[in-house]
Order: sequence, then C-alpha cells, then structure tokens
Amino acid sequence: MFPQNIVLIGFMGTGKSSIGKRAARILGFRFVDTDHLITERAGMEIPQIFALHGEAHFRDLETETLRSLENTSHQVVATGGGIVLREENRRQLRSLGFTVALTAREDVLFERVSRNTKRPLLQTADPQGTIHNMVQERAALYADTAQFLVDTSDLGQQALAELIAHEALSRFPSLTST
Ligand code: S3P
Repeated sequence: MFPQNIVLIGFMGTGKSSIGKRAARILGFRFVDTDHLITERAGMEIPQIFALHGEAHFRDLETETLRSLENTSHQVVATGGGIVLREENRRQLRSLGFTVALTAREDVLFERVSRNTKRPLLQTADPQGTIHNMVQERAALYADTAQFLVDTSDLGQQALAELIAHEALSRFPSLTST
C-alpha cells in the first residue's frame, strides 16, 4: 500500500504548520492541521481545552481526530507535538502516509516558541528546562515513527517545504496521481 498523504510530526516550534502549508501548495494538496480540527470540534482554543478538561481529554480528542483522517489522500497533515505519545496514534500516523519528522536544536525551539503563549505545556517557570525534558522523552518516538527526518534549525521554510515535497515524490511517485 503506497502512502496517500504526507504527515508532519515533531516537537512544538519545529514549523509543522508553516512548512506543511507551503509543501501542500507546492504539491497541489490540501493542508490539514490536527490541532485546528480539534479546536473546531471542541469549539474552543487549545489552552481552554487544557484548562477546562485537562490534557487527557485533549489527547482523546487528538486520537479521535486522527482516526477521522483514515482513508484520506492528497493532503499534507500537520500534527500536534504530543501526537506520538500514544501507540495507537503512531500506528495511525504511519498508515496515513509518508511520515516526516521535523527537528530543531533546543535553543532554536526555545526562541521560536517563546513568542507565544498558546502552548499550555510550556507555561512553566522554566520553559527552557521543560523543552529539554520533553525533547528527551519524545525524540525516540518521533524518530521511530518517521520515515524521513529533517532538521529545520538552519533552513528557510520554503526550502524545507521543497525538500520534503521532493523527497516524497522521489520515494513515492504515485502520490501525485489521483
Ligand atoms: C502539544 C503541542 C501543541 C498542541 C498542544 C500539545 C504537545 O501543538 O497540540 O499544545 O504536547 O507537544 P504544536 O506542536 O503544533 O505546538
């Protein structure tokens, strides 16, 4: 079974949404973002979901949202950084399409995420330390789930999107056929 979509995973601040939108434009694919689908379903933003219902509920919504993408094609799917935490999700991600993990150095991640307050898990007294610990916990999950790893620390978004689109097409030419 050939991959039908391109799936972007990776830590917060690796650029999954921005790079994903550009890759979708290059390929003529639709762009979807699981965090966006979750906020639409829940009728509220992510910090509110965490504050009102807790992380476990958010994770349930994340799993449901991912399941709802089954049997889709010609999409670039950007995901939330914690989606790899569940084994079921990791299986689902792999079956959805060509899995690409975006990575970045911790100093780069910190610099990128410190610009906004929309990530409840990073609202701690020591966000840099939190990032360090979370990256340690998750790095192997991203690497094990992905077929292709891309370090986003030093390249522009368009160049990264072109790299991913090119890699996807050279591995899976059938991605472009309808
Ligand atoms: C999370 C990442 C966020 C969002 C939620 C939890 C995580 O998505 O899903 O705040 O656990 O890493 P981004 O990776 O798009 O910031």
